[in-house]
Amino acid sequence: METTFDLSGHICMVTGASGGLGSCFAAALAGAGARVVATGRRQSELERVCSEIASTGGDAHPVVMDVTDASSVAAAFEQAESRYGTVDVLVNNSGVACGQTALDLSQADWDRVVDTNLNGAWRVAQITAQRLVAAGQSGSIINIVSILAYRVAGGVAPYAASKAALLHLTQALALEWARHRIRVNAIAPGFVLTEMNRSFFESDAGQAVLKRIPQRRLGTPEDLVGPLMLLASKASGYMTGSCITVDGGHLQSTL
Ligand SMILES: NC(=O)c1ccc[n+]([C@@H]2O[C@H](COP(=O)([O-])OP(=O)(O)OC[C@H]3O[C@@H](n4cnc5c(N)ncnc54)[C@H](OP(=O)(O)O)[C@@H]3O)[C@@H](O)[C@H]2O)c1
Repeated sequence: METTFDLSGHICMVTGASGGLGSCFAAALAGAGARVVATGRRQSELERVCSEIASTGGDAHPVVMDVTDASSVAAAFEQAESRYGTVDVLVNNSGVACGQTALDLSQADWDRVVDTNLNGAWRVAQITAQRLVAAGQSGSIINIVSILAYRVAGGVAPYAASKAALLHLTQALALEWARHRIRVNAIAPGFVLTEMNRSFFESDAGQAVLKRIPQRRLGTPEDLVGPLMLLASKASGYMTGSCITVDGGHLQSTL
């Protein structure tokens, strides 16, 4: 029996590829042979990520796309398709958080988080699926949720609610789109060290969080690559509506 994570011939779009986890995902997918459309709002960062990928022999193209703006998403898909063809692997990775208690949260902050994490992911998933169906092609959509889709923490209500909704959406779309050979799965990372949260995890509060992770360490972006390759490739051909938790056991920490 042959199991392969090879992505040659596939066209993968990563949202939020301009930094953090997304840039690691884009590089990993390109390393597996895919042609990668790296999207986000910051063109200069997308160009940096794509030239790093090119320097290692990969093929990646930067396309500016704001997931909260339908016309920006439509224009980005036109660009991606004219460059490479139909996107058949989507990594819905764009996300924002807001650290604020619910009593003090502004409507604008609630809207920003939900518009990006839920509405944005839905918008990009739908256009991906519509184009796949029109082309008669199969595909794989991977939504990046969070362990906060399963359990809550203080000060992150819109983030936790948006990720829980995205996980439920993953299952609803998996049900509807299986007949079109489009698989929809999710990855739920625990705390993963990126430039954005490095200073927090160096603080006393951050070190206290670390002690509650059974493996007693933060994740690295590379820890997510194996599950990503599984869900992107035909190795997971019979998986849809699934969510892979990658959290060093954090969800199992004692109540
Ligand atoms: N790091 C963790 O510990 C962790 C844990 C669980 C889940 N996650 C999830 O993993 C994903 C990546 O997180 P990260 O840690 O890599 O965060 P990050 O470094 O802040 O990256 C977030 C990315 O989202 C993009 N983005 C934000 N708003 C956007 C918009 N309106 N349109 C398009 N792109 C947008 C940003 O690109 P631009 O600014 O260029 O638009 C950026 O590249 C997020 O969904 C996050 O919720 C992270």
